[in-house]
Amino acid sequence: MEDIRAVYLNFFAQRKHTIIASAPLVPENDSTTLFTGSGMQPILPYLLGTPHPLGVRITDSQKCFRAQDIEEIGDNRHTTFFEMLGNWSFGDYFKQEQITWMWEFLTEEIRLDPKNLYFTCFRGNENLDIPKDTQSALLWQKLFLETGIEAGIGEYPERDGIRFGEKIFYYSEKKNWWSRSGVPEAMPEGEPGGPDTEMFWDFGAERGLHEQSLWKDEPCHVNCDCGRFMEIGNNVFMEYKKTANGFEKLAQKNVDFGGGLERLIAAKGNNPDMFYGYIFDTLRHTIEELAQKKYGEDEKYTYAFRVVMDHLRATTFLIADGVLPSNTDQGYVLRRLLRRAVRYADMLDIKPQSLSLCVSALVSEYKNAYSYLSEREQDITSVIDKEESKFRETLTRGMKELEKRLSGGGLTGKDVFELFSTYGFPLEMTEEIVKEKGGKINEEEFRREFVKHQELSRAGSTGKFKGGLADHSEMSVKYHTATHLLQQALREVLGKHVFQKGSNITPERLRFDFSHSEKMTEEQKKKVEEIVNQKIAEKLTVTFEDVPLAEAEKLGAIGLFEEKYGDKVRVYTIGDFSLEFCGGPHVENTGTLGHFKIIKEEACSAGIRRIKAVLE
Ligand code: ALA
Repeated sequence: MEDIRAVYLNFFAQRKHTIIASAPLVPENDSTTLFTGSGMQPILPYLLGTPHPLGVRITDSQKCFRAQDIEEIGDNRHTTFFEMLGNWSFGDYFKQEQITWMWEFLTEEIRLDPKNLYFTCFRGNENLDIPKDTQSALLWQKLFLETGIEAGIGEYPERDGIRFGEKIFYYSEKKNWWSRSGVPEAMPEGEPGGPDTEMFWDFGAERGLHEQSLWKDEPCHVNCDCGRFMEIGNNVFMEYKKTANGFEKLAQKNVDFGGGLERLIAAKGNNPDMFYGYIFDTLRHTIEELAQKKYGEDEKYTYAFRVVMDHLRATTFLIADGVLPSNTDQGYVLRRLLRRAVRYADMLDIKPQSLSLCVSALVSEYKNAYSYLSEREQDITSVIDKEESKFRETLTRGMKELEKRLSGGGLTGKDVFELFSTYGFPLEMTEEIVKEKGGKINEEEFRREFVKHQELSRAGSTGKFKGGLADHSEMSVKYHTATHLLQQALREVLGKHVFQKGSNITPERLRFDFSHSEKMTEEQKKKVEEIVNQKIAEKLTVTFEDVPLAEAEKLGAIGLFEEKYGDKVRVYTIGDFSLEFCGGPHVENTGTLGHFKIIKEEACSAGIRRIKAVLE
C-alpha cells in the first residue's frame, strides 16, 4: 500500500522543507489546552515571527487529539486521534507555490482524479476590510484547465448549489477563514489568522448521500454536511493579526497547510468510511478476530467497532506520550476512553482482558513513522490491562449491588444514586439494565437525591459564583444560566439524546448547538420557551458543588466533556430542574433573567441543530 504520509513528507522535503518530528499529544509549552489539536498549534510562535531554528520551510505529520469529538465517534468520519499533515512557509513562499504544489501532490503524487476535486476560497468581507481571494480561485482554475477541465467558479454555492461545470466556490469567513479561535470575531487580540482555500473530494452524487440526508430539501454544495464531499486539506494564508480595532498585516506572510491523513486515505480509497482506510487494516482485522465478527457485515455492530477502533488507537498514542489513567485532566480523558472501549468491546462479545492485544496491531502499523511505539509496547499493554481489570471490578461490584436491589423490588432514585456515587457504577449501565428488564429509572427521584446530597455537603464551598467565562458581564452571566435552562428544556421536549455540542454567549444573545437531527416544529419551540420561562418565573435558586471526580464520574449529569477538569468537577443545579457539569459563573436566582425567546433554530452540521435565543 502506498504510504501517503511518507509520500507527502518526501514531496515537501524535495521542495526544500525540513521534516520535523510530531510534537507530543500533550502540549509542552501551552497550558491553555489539554491536547495538541492541530498541526499548527506547536508552530504558532514561528507564525508570529520567532525564527524557526530549522529555517523558513517546515513539514511534518502531527499527532492530534480532539476530546470534544468523543460523543461523535461512531459515524464514518470522526476520530478523536488523527494525524494532520502540515507544511509551513514562514514569510517565504505564498499562494502561487502552495496552490501549485498542492495540485501536484494531489493529482500527480497520490493520483487523485481532478474530476472529483473541488476547491473553496474566501469571498472577502468589507466590514473586516479583507479582500476577496480571487488570486487563489484563478490559480485553481488555471490548473484545472491544464488538465483539460474547464472549471467554473460559483459565487453563492449555499444558495445556488453546484451549477454545471463549477469546481471552485467562494464562501464567507464562516467557512474560509482560519484561526485557532475560529471566525474573525472570536479571535483574541494578537492572534494570527487569515483566509484559506480548502480542498474537497467528491465521493460521487450517485451514492445518493444527499437525498438520504437531512439537507435533502436544500441544494447540495461542497460544505453541505450530507457526506458526499469530504474536506481533505486546508491552505491557510496567514497574513493577518487581530488588533483592538480590526486587523493588521503580520510582519511576514505565512502559509499554514493542514490535511487529515485519514481523510486523504479515504479519498484515495474512494470510500467515505474512514475506518476502511489502510491505516486501520491491521487493527480492524485484530478486532474482527477477537470479536469473531466482520466489520460492516452486520450494521448493528458497526458503531461499536468504530468506537473500539478509535478509542484504542487514541489510547495507545496517549499512553505512549506519557498519559496515565487518572481522575484529572488528560488522565481523566484517557480513563473515559478506555472505559468506553471496554463497554463497546463487551457489546462485540470480545473476551474480557483482551483489548490490550490490539496494541501490537497498532505498533506494527505505526512503527515506521513512530518508532518509539515499539519501545513502549509493554507499558502500553500493561496500562490498558490494568485499567480494564480495575473497571471490571467496579462493574462486578456494582452489578451485584444492582441485582440485589432489583430483586428487593425495583430501584428507587436513591438506589440509582448510591450505585453511582458509592459503587461508581455508570449511570447509563444502570439505565440499560433496568430497561432490559422492562423498567425505567425514576430520573426525578435521582435528581432529587443528588440535590439533597449536595445540600448536605455544600458547607465547604467558597467563591460561590466564580467561573471561567471569557466575558463576565452581567448579561453574559444571565445568558449562561439561560443556556442551562434551555438544555434541560430541550431534553424534556425532544428527548434525552439532546446534549450540548457547542455554546457561544455574547452580551446580546446565546447560541446553543445540540445533538438532534430534525428541524424543530413551531410547537416544540413554543414548548421549550414556555418551560424556560416557567423556570424563570419559579425564581429557582442556583447552587453549585465541587464533587470529587471519582464520585462524579459517570454521573450522567449533562455537561461538556472538553472542559478542563481539576481534581473535582463543579456541578451546578438550578432548583431541582437542571444539573450540569460546568465552571460557571451563573446568576443566583433565575428570577432575574427576564423573558426568554428563541429567535432562530437551524441546522448546524450533521445531526446537530443550533438555537439562537435572547432574554428580553
Ligand atoms: N491550521 C489549519 C487547520 O487546522 C491548517 O485546518
